[in-house]
Amino acid sequence: MPQTVLMCPPTFFDVREAKNPHMGVPIDRVRAQHQWENLRRSLQDSGLKVELIDPVKDLDDMVFAANQVFVGEHPTMGRFIVPSRMRYPSRQKEVVFYVEWFRRRGYQVVDVNLAREFLEGHGDLIWHPDRLCIWAGYGFRSTRGGVERFAAAMQKLGFRVTRLELVDAHCYHLDTCLCPLSSESVLVYQAAFDPASVEKIRAGFERVHELSREEAVQFMGNGIVANGRFITPRLTPHLSHILAQEELTPVIVETTEFEKSGGSVFCMKSFID
Ligand code: ARG
Repeated sequence: MPQTVLMCPPTFFDVREAKNPHMGVPIDRVRAQHQWENLRRSLQDSGLKVELIDPVKDLDDMVFAANQVFVGEHPTMGRFIVPSRMRYPSRQKEVVFYVEWFRRRGYQVVDVNLAREFLEGHGDLIWHPDRLCIWAGYGFRSTRGGVERFAAAMQKLGFRVTRLELVDAHCYHLDTCLCPLSSESVLVYQAAFDPASVEKIRAGFERVHELSREEAVQFMGNGIVANGRFITPRLTPHLSHILAQEELTPVIVETTEFEKSGGSVFCMKSFID
């Protein structure tokens, strides 16, 4: 299991442009800083090492460290990244800073020729916990073509990519509606996917736990699994029951300010080992 995560302090975090249906309300900067610190602490308390990248002025979404690159490890090539091509020009500027951060630490850069397609890192690309295959969402941010090009590159490295089509604008990134809890079990908000994609998810996990739309739009499917804990922005009795069945201990970390930008705990970090 990966044990190190990368985060970016929310120094310049802001909501300036509505890139998804959650955005529109102004944020409380002091509160955001507080919530981010709490998340960092609870990741550390869960036994993870937290690395930081310097925030850059004017890059208001750079705090969402899950999106700028896809991170993987290959048996012979070692650790690698695939740089994203973000849909919004304001976010495209974040990518070089992340690529540089990883390059300096020795990660191989696998440049997929995305042409005019889009691909948004771990927002839409989620490793199966066995780390042999990758779940890939498209439709709102990453494009089908972007995912196809990524899949072709990953296939050459021996990783299988399962394409999933997203159909609910509130679940614009895969990490808002699909959350593996273990190699056998997953949290999923099914109506966020087209029927064929739901079938693929059902075939990929032994236990599929369904979230309600309410739970999904409140980011309960955007949790982080870390050493027997499940870090989530909130809990319902229904989700508590699922976590108990899966022997995960819930840890609540409030992320209301980041939710005004369309993100919660999962979006604010990337597993980097
Ligand atoms: N405001 C950001 C955007 O719309 C939020 C990104 C959330 N990240 C995520 N992995 N879902 O691009």
